[in-house]
Amino acid sequence: MTPPFRVDLIVGARPNFVKIAPIVRALRAKGTFAPRLIHTGQHYDFLMDRVFFEELRIPAPDVNLKIGSGPASEQVAKIMLALHPLFVEDRPHLLVVVGDVNSTVAAALTASCLRIPIAHVEAGLRSFDREMPEELNRLVVDQLSDLHFVTEKEGQANLIAERVAPERIKFVGNVMIDTAYDALERAVPAPDTFATLGASAAFRERAANGFGFATLHRPSNVDDPVKLKGLIQALAKVSEKLPLVFAVHPRTRGNIEKAGLAETLKAPGLLACEPLAYLASLGLMRDAKVVVTDSGGMQEETTALGVPCITVRDNTERPITIEEGTNTLIGADPARIGPIVDDILRTGGKRGRKPALWDGKAAERIAVEAEAFLRGRG
Ligand code: UD1
Repeated sequence: MTPPFRVDLIVGARPNFVKIAPIVRALRAKGTFAPRLIHTGQHYDFLMDRVFFEELRIPAPDVNLKIGSGPASEQVAKIMLALHPLFVEDRPHLLVVVGDVNSTVAAALTASCLRIPIAHVEAGLRSFDREMPEELNRLVVDQLSDLHFVTEKEGQANLIAERVAPERIKFVGNVMIDTAYDALERAVPAPDTFATLGASAAFRERAANGFGFATLHRPSNVDDPVKLKGLIQALAKVSEKLPLVFAVHPRTRGNIEKAGLAETLKAPGLLACEPLAYLASLGLMRDAKVVVTDSGGMQEETTALGVPCITVRDNTERPITIEEGTNTLIGADPARIGPIVDDILRTGGKRGRKPALWDGKAAERIAVEAEAFLRGRG
């Protein structure tokens, strides 16, 4: 096969945008690819979508399928129906999918029906928890993929255990960390974000001596009103000692409203706000004493930044953040958050080290491997 190589890149949900930014740049820089960026529309609010394109300088999508929210099977089916004609009319040489969201699996299924080769970025991660929708997506996408780009060694081992041929697995590093390093200088300092969010003078004064940053959006934490209430109460309690910014995801916001928990959010030390744009979020992560989250990406970003992270989950598909990084898994019991925060405030928490190949150059390696793969198919 000879250049230009037509490559379709799929994005749909917030973490996809962060991962695709350096890949688009690296493919364009090579000069041998003709990339087409396809947005499924899984996420669509300004703060969940467009702001990432602006801040990360991602070119506007060539196509937006505008699928929107809905039950997983409906979302996947709608994306497949919309993608199929695009792939047939203008067949790519390669499909690149990132991460584990519904848009990722929908695109991989559609391409595999048409025998279009698939490259999966962030392959091989496993939580071994099939209650997690993302785990099912990861398993399916990796079975369908031809090229597996891996962020950590454990990913390689998981793929080999699932009988993926070793020559298809490429350990390239972490594109989410490419983006974090690229944007770090532009990250918004925490005090500026407090001002933008309209934090009280009392909050700002206390936060000048240290603050925490919290996010929660996993269905396992936020869909059950009793669990959600316990978690918010635990954050409110922590905020008596350490002021906390709590960026509330739309899924979480919806559940807070349904369960009548808005009052629980109103602790003086808790600054509950809309989802944050990328540069504000990166700035808070960098400057925080501790991050409390159930996000996959933030476990990695805090490890790259050397900031202690408490993950409110029973498991993680990103074990390197625990073994080498700054992450601590505490399960979903809200009672554990307070004591661990105390411990981190006393000791400074885990320092960690940067995992291998988390060096800001993962996307460049992906471009090299993708080109070699396509030339090899000629
Ligand atoms: C999805 C991903 C998850 C990822 C997360 C990041 C799957 C299975 N899950 O979860 O892995 O960590 O994105 O945010 O793909 N909504 C809005 N505005 C938006 C988008 C969503 O209000 O722009 C609301 C809708 O009410 C929607 C709900 O959030 O029903 C959930 O959105 P959805 O994309 O289904 O899942 P997430 O929880 O965002």
